[in-house]
Amino acid sequence: MRILLLGADGQLGHELRHSLAFLGEVVPHGRATLDVGRLDLLREALAASRYDVVVNASAHTDVDGAERDEAAARRLNTEAVRVLGEEARARKFGLVHYSTDFVFDGAGERAYREDDRAAPLNAYGRSKLEGEQALAALEAPAIVLRTAWVWSLRRKSFVSTILRVARERETLQVVDDQVGNPTFAGDLAIATALILQQVRADPYAGVAANKGIYHAAGKGAVSRYDFARAIVAEDPRRQEHRVRAVEPVDSSRVPLPATRPKHAPLDCGKLRERFGVELPTWESSLVRALTAR
Ligand SMILES: NC(=O)c1ccc[n+]([C@@H]2O[C@H](COP(=O)([O-])OP(=O)(O)OC[C@H]3O[C@@H](n4cnc5c(N)ncnc54)[C@H](OP(=O)(O)O)[C@@H]3O)[C@@H](O)[C@H]2O)c1
Repeated sequence: MRILLLGADGQLGHELRHSLAFLGEVVPHGRATLDVGRLDLLREALAASRYDVVVNASAHTDVDGAERDEAAARRLNTEAVRVLGEEARARKFGLVHYSTDFVFDGAGERAYREDDRAAPLNAYGRSKLEGEQALAALEAPAIVLRTAWVWSLRRKSFVSTILRVARERETLQVVDDQVGNPTFAGDLAIATALILQQVRADPYAGVAANKGIYHAAGKGAVSRYDFARAIVAEDPRRQEHRVRAVEPVDSSRVPLPATRPKHAPLDCGKLRERFGVELPTWESSLVRALTAR
């Protein structure tokens, strides 16, 4: 299988370099070698070589920045995704793309299923939802994995930030009214490879036959506050900490440009039923990653 990997230097993209290598030849592109927002260059790159699968881990992920410049978010998260969908149909490759829990407003009581009503609260969520809708309108051969709270230790993430500030401050204040599924980038990359392994015989037909949205996030839901407490408690290098207390705060006390959903855990049952793939619990991934550091 020949795979084009876009956004190969991101949290997820970096992990996909490893997991996809089990499937065949991976051609990785970071922003420096292929600016996905340059739609002409994107089309050229897809025309220049034949791929069985394109995995799109590139995205405009600056949630607060997207409030200031929604057009920039839309260029990558909607327009480039539409181009990928069009090219997937025309050139007969399977597309794997990622979306977000931020397509939901977080007002529900239970975990969201794929066909629950999307109602994004911010510009980033709108741009990602429009990307999903573009693929659906095209009936593109695309598997869209909606994920949440992606973290890694390589780049700035919630986990790496908590580990840093635990070494700088005695008291951490963390919002306790946002609940979601922390997803370790390495786990999502492995899940992607496990899915693609199942369509290996004919990746285009296999992806096309399974096209649509799947929720794919770490197992178990937690508040940001409880997640932060677990990060502090599970850090094997606790002797380096200055932190004495982690305190819960209401998100209204930490105003940010983009409103976040309050309760947006994802029900990942469809992924389990269709592909037999389930991500590990967020606690087990946290412990694993911290002890491997
Ligand atoms: N992070 C989360 O909490 C979260 C939650 C839900 C869903 N997701 C989704 O999961 C996927 C992976 O996210 P992630 O956490 O891995 O994000 P990330 O670490 O920000 O990676 C995104 C990558 O896209 C690259 N990129 C940005 N603009 C580009 C451009 N014009 N051309 C080419 N590449 C460009 C970035 O380049 P640079 O390396 O130059 O920055 C970065 O390497 C995305 O679809 C995201 O929307 C993420």
